[in-house]
Amino acid sequence: MGSETILILGGSGKTGRRVAERLMAQGKDVRLASRSTVPAFDWTDPSGWAAALEGVDAAYVSYQPDLAVPGAVEAIGMLCRLAAEKGVKHLVLLSGRGEDEAQAAEQALKQSGVGYTIISASWFFQNFSEAFLLDGIQAGELVLPIGDVKEPFIDADDIADVAVAALTEPGHVGKIYEVTGPQLMTFGEAVAEIARQTGRDIRFTTVDIDDYAAMLEQAQIPADYIWLVRYLFTTVLDGRNESVTDDVLQVLGHPPRGFADFAREAAATGVWEGLK
Ligand SMILES: NC(=O)c1ccc[n+]([C@@H]2O[C@H](COP(=O)([O-])OP(=O)(O)OC[C@H]3O[C@@H](n4cnc5c(N)ncnc54)[C@H](OP(=O)(O)O)[C@@H]3O)[C@@H](O)[C@H]2O)c1
Repeated sequence: MGSETILILGGSGKTGRRVAERLMAQGKDVRLASRSTVPAFDWTDPSGWAAALEGVDAAYVSYQPDLAVPGAVEAIGMLCRLAAEKGVKHLVLLSGRGEDEAQAAEQALKQSGVGYTIISASWFFQNFSEAFLLDGIQAGELVLPIGDVKEPFIDADDIADVAVAALTEPGHVGKIYEVTGPQLMTFGEAVAEIARQTGRDIRFTTVDIDDYAAMLEQAQIPADYIWLVRYLFTTVLDGRNESVTDDVLQVLGHPPRGFADFAREAAATGVWEGLK
């Protein structure tokens, strides 16, 4: 004990970066791995995986781009088998709530013989501030193929806290946490809250999924990304996730952060200022 090495796959991502920061603040020996690290870790090229896992005791695994895409189950299965061979004791997998395909990847982890914790998360707040919804917010109009379906958006900071608890405290091996924020909101309500906090006029517009896919195609977005967007906005956002859980409270001892708090803080950073 004491000098455990913890690997973070996707260590510069929305959750991985936060997990790494927390572990480093605790003085843990942290190894970040992604396509831009040396040595590199690429989900599309297993040749670098063994080096990343060498001497590792535990790992936080965020897959790219999503556990629902073809090939994800095989990749997770292969990584888990390699981790078992390398003597890794604990894998903490970030999964997508309501994604049936992701459950097959979770199953591959469970069957690997490595100790596991699964964090099955709802949509992140940070999609609005650090990811693909940011451009629309900055432009003053977010256009999405979604209507009044509600989602229990969650703060990536809460996810990171749960992951760090799983990696550093006893009692989390063999557990599946379904983590959500404290309230259900539509995408329109989330945009309205951002508009309120920034004092800007930001509209939310719903479009038909086929029209949205055509817009992405016109913008020369790769076909596999368009497939994923279509899957997320039709299959996953069909109302199946319209419930909140108390798993964050159970793990952390406090409730998850609300969207208004997040939006106030993010607005103060200037990230949502309009495009000049
Ligand atoms: N966003 C949501 O609302 C949400 C909700 C539930 C679950 N999830 C799941 O969260 C996971 C993504 O986690 P995140 O949002 O924390 O990450 P993220 O912000 O999407 O960050 C991407 C990270 O992955 C690395 N990366 C990108 N492509 C890679 C590749 N081919 N091989 C290896 N590394 C790669 C990037 O670094 P490099 O560029 O250096 O490679 C970066 O560190 C996905 O599995 C997604 O399904 C997301």
